Amino acid sequence: MTNPAIHFTHAVSRRPGASVTAGLRAQDRGAPDLERMQAAHDAYVATLRSTGAEVIVLDALEDYPDALFVEDTALCLPGGAVMMRPGAASRMGEVAQMRPTLAGLFEDLRDIEGPGHIEGGDILFTGREVLVGLSARTDAEGVAELRKILDEWGHPLREVQTPDGVLHFKTDCSLLDAETILSTKLLDASGCFEGYRVLHLPDGEEAAANAIRFNDVILMPDGFPKTAEMLTQEGFNVRPIDNTDCALLDGGMSCLSLRFNI
Ligand code: GLY
Repeated sequence: MTNPAIHFTHAVSRRPGASVTAGLRAQDRGAPDLERMQAAHDAYVATLRSTGAEVIVLDALEDYPDALFVEDTALCLPGGAVMMRPGAASRMGEVAQMRPTLAGLFEDLRDIEGPGHIEGGDILFTGREVLVGLSARTDAEGVAELRKILDEWGHPLREVQTPDGVLHFKTDCSLLDAETILSTKLLDASGCFEGYRVLHLPDGEEAAANAIRFNDVILMPDGFPKTAEMLTQEGFNVRPIDNTDCALLDGGMSCLSLRFNI
């Protein structure tokens, strides 16, 4: 049986532009290298396509340095898609840039109208429920507005908490299969994954928490051998992708695509 949280027919991604060097970051650890970032992005898209999915790659948006992190602009679910309302002011305009693409793909397309804020990086769809982490980017009003839409579509929403100092809920966790979550010990300690099987990131490899299950593969950041070994031992088909430059902007595997079935 296919699970719409891990089996996908389509994805949408966006190329990085030269302005990516001005992307938001919690801590300045240097500017990303556009050429290397583009090469990693190409490998990411090729890996998604290798599973048989159709991947739409949109042009770079120089006016929006963080626009390659398309996940924050929308939530795509069985039933429809919801355009988000980012908590980062510099990212608000990315939503209108993504909307026409999703309007061409989803019959039921809604908008978070505000005044609240919510970003896709704070949302984990597990197939049985939608977990939304409150964070510096996602507030209770944004979650409440999303809840009204998801009630109509029959998706239970559970409000949880992104740990302090962590950009997004999914910075610290990933869905590996219908029952299994990869999580930092810090996030799991909040109790938000009760009822799931949880695999903890090995100590020192917490930065590998943001991975994606996409059809029969797990895309994860390269350079985390203990995590790769653990997931391989668990029977997952691991595909490491260079995340050096996205990591400088606090971005990871999930941030680079919207994934859905149509
Ligand atoms: N650089 C990604 C973000 O802060 O939203």
